[in-house]
Amino acid sequence: MRHILTGLVLSITFIACAWAGQPTHIYGVNLGSWLVLELWMLPQGWVDMGGQLCGSDCSTCISTESAFAQAYPDTVNATFAQHWDTWFTQSDVDTLKAAGINTVRIPLGYWIVEDLVNRPHELYPQGGLNYLRRGLGWLQDAGIQVILDHHALPGVQTAQQMFTGNCTTDVQFYTPYNYQRALVWTAVMTTLSHLDPNFGSVFSIEAANEPINDASQTPGYGTFQENFVQTVRAVELTLGISVPSSNLSVSVSASVSNNFTAALNETSSATIFPAEVQAALSEAVPIIMGIGATHGLQTIFEASPFKQSGTPLVTNFMDMNWQYNNPSNPADVAIGPQAYDDHLYYSSAVRRGNDSTSYMTSICNLAEIQTDAALGNSPLWFGEWSLDTQFNATDEFLYQWADAQKLAYSKGAGWIYWNFKIEISNLTNGNARAKQWSYLEGLELGFFTQDPAAFHNPNVCAPYTNSTSNNTSTSVSNSTSKGTSSSAPISIPATGYQPLIYFMFLISSSLIFL
Ligand SMILES: *[C@@H]1O[C@H](CO)[C@@H](O)[C@H](O)[C@H]1NC(C)=O
Ligand SMILES: *[C@@H]1O[C@H](CO)[C@@H](O)[C@H](O)[C@H]1NC(C)=O
Ligand SMILES: *[C@@H]1O[C@H](CO)[C@@H](O)[C@H](O)[C@H]1NC(C)=O
Ligand SMILES: *[C@@H]1O[C@H](CO)[C@@H](O)[C@H](O)[C@H]1NC(C)=O
Ligand SMILES: *[C@@H]1O[C@H](CO)[C@@H](O)[C@H](O)[C@H]1NC(C)=O
Ligand SMILES: *[C@@H]1O[C@H](CO)[C@@H](O)[C@H](O)[C@H]1NC(C)=O
Ligand SMILES: *[C@@H]1O[C@H](CO)[C@@H](O)[C@H](O)[C@H]1NC(C)=O
Ligand SMILES: *[C@@H]1O[C@H](CO)[C@@H](O)[C@H](O)[C@H]1NC(C)=O
Ligand SMILES: *[C@@H]1O[C@H](CO)[C@@H](O)[C@H](O)[C@H]1NC(C)=O
Ligand SMILES: *[C@@H]1O[C@H](CO)[C@@H](O)[C@H](O)[C@H]1NC(C)=O
Ligand SMILES: *[C@@H]1O[C@H](CO)[C@@H](O)[C@H](O)[C@H]1NC(C)=O
Ligand SMILES: *[C@@H]1O[C@H](CO)[C@@H](O)[C@H](O)[C@H]1NC(C)=O
Repeated sequence: MRHILTGLVLSITFIACAWAGQPTHIYGVNLGSWLVLELWMLPQGWVDMGGQLCGSDCSTCISTESAFAQAYPDTVNATFAQHWDTWFTQSDVDTLKAAGINTVRIPLGYWIVEDLVNRPHELYPQGGLNYLRRGLGWLQDAGIQVILDHHALPGVQTAQQMFTGNCTTDVQFYTPYNYQRALVWTAVMTTLSHLDPNFGSVFSIEAANEPINDASQTPGYGTFQENFVQTVRAVELTLGISVPSSNLSVSVSASVSNNFTAALNETSSATIFPAEVQAALSEAVPIIMGIGATHGLQTIFEASPFKQSGTPLVTNFMDMNWQYNNPSNPADVAIGPQAYDDHLYYSSAVRRGNDSTSYMTSICNLAEIQTDAALGNSPLWFGEWSLDTQFNATDEFLYQWADAQKLAYSKGAGWIYWNFKIEISNLTNGNARAKQWSYLEGLELGFFTQDPAAFHNPNVCAPYTNSTSNNTSTSVSNSTSKGTSSSAPISIPATGYQPLIYFMFLISSSLIFL
């Protein structure tokens, strides 16, 4: 399935139709290390909090949120409240808005839905939802749309990674118990997205960040994907939201038409949904009621008419090509609007050559959008990328590298940089890490143009493409639809794509810098 279908048109109109009212191009940043803390982005801050930096094996010290909660059970809430309060602020929102950022992706742990945490076996800081709600309020006021990304899943979706919140080799996500918890999380987040006024700018929920690449190690993941979509739609149909191309229907008794939680409880016995989805809805009911009571949303959840004519959320998955070994195709389970996410980190030398010309040749001929579209994985956005390189990049190269990646990703639905910011400290070698990982620092240094839709040089790829229409890229800053229809990028040889290995490299290389 990896052959390239040239000439396949990824129509911008299709992207626009997928979620009415949203910007056609995503110019975004991740709010990384806010509600899922990864110490490599703020090593000094982490040490100041009481965390530790442990050599190459992150399971051997206080390197994650769960290890921290275990070490400091009495102060963990307060310490993290301080972090949540300061790592992402109103002032950051103002800066992002001024920089033309129209989207943020917010990495979240399952533990933000506190009732899902199986205490005392699992421990995490509590109180994050207050900060998420406040931050979403700022983003909404700024007109910035939001993707809620289930970044750290119950049971841990991949081994020995700090971004899962628990650095362990014991990967348990791909089991019925944890799939179930992820579905409950989904039902709760879908409810909040439609009913909590603070969540008004959420337009998409991503099911699972970066599952294991080898699909033979993720049994049941395809069924989870299907249940994820059905859970989102079951909540929405209960709310009265119509979902295009759905043959599902939900009817709510008149007696519960002023009590959403009661209506959701009714839907949980609708046999049109699989048993897992029914169970997730039923388990979500008391959790939603608890959140309502704690956050002043009880009247909305239990004592108000809730029927709405809102827009369905865009369900979001890592693209099928994220996995190998006979993966499931998330396009097969779409009901209503759905989009796909890919994460390209070029500093994975496994994938690309290890010098500036190889990087440019690769990005300028990127085929991902076409290969994904051939699988139905369209629209596609690039939900994580950076300016990181495995060689010492010159500033001159970084200007080109920023332009070229933006050009390539804008031919899809757009891009979301990792990360919005990085600590600047002695432990990050001053701004050395921020330079290639922080959007705000890259903007400050001029690698990114003040207008994210602009380029220093719209023809930056010309020397690296074999296309006869050498200058199609000039139109890209306006509308990227032309890029894919006129001159399909030339395929690059499919070398093994191993983002996981990259992440391991990243973590160890970060620690070497320390
Ligand atoms: C942490 O916060 C939760 C929820 O607010 C609370 O139940 C728990 O007691 C707090 N833990 C500590 C040690 O304060
Ligand atoms: C981390 O994961 C391990 C292995 O699954 C588990 O035993 C442990 O309870 C988890 N720790 C926390 C704090 O969640
Ligand atoms: C709804 O559509 C799907 C796929 O189009 C089909 O498999 C399923 O049987 C249909 N369900 C009903 C209740 O018609
Ligand atoms: C709403 O419905 C739930 C679930 O059936 C129920 O427990 C709750 O008491 C109801 N709330 C009100 C205000 O009637
Ligand atoms: C949910 O619905 C079932 C019937 O389907 C009922 O027995 C149960 O009491 C309801 N739960 C709540 C919380 O309303
Ligand atoms: C990439 O090149 C640099 C500099 O030559 C080298 O230090 C590094 O090990 C190389 N990385 C890989 C994966 O080859
Ligand atoms: C890159 O720069 C660092 C720090 O200046 C230096 O230690 C390293 O040797 C350089 N690597 C290459 C491949 O030039
Ligand atoms: C960084 O290290 C230098 C020299 O050790 C020290 O003077 C300076 O205060 C440190 N800066 C920060 C931000 O810690
Ligand atoms: C494309 O145009 C650039 C000048 O903008 C030129 O340097 C390059 O050689 C051209 N490439 C091809 C393949 O014609
Ligand atoms: C594109 O041009 C480069 C350099 O001339 C060449 O090595 C490469 O094979 C060409 N690729 C294709 C697909 O023609
Ligand atoms: C791009 O192509 C157009 C004609 O299609 C031509 O007029 C223009 O000069 C070209 N620009 C560059 C930079 O080659
Ligand atoms: C490109 O954008 C400029 C400025 O926004 C606009 O004037 C021009 O008409 C646009 N061109 C196309 C082809 O859309």
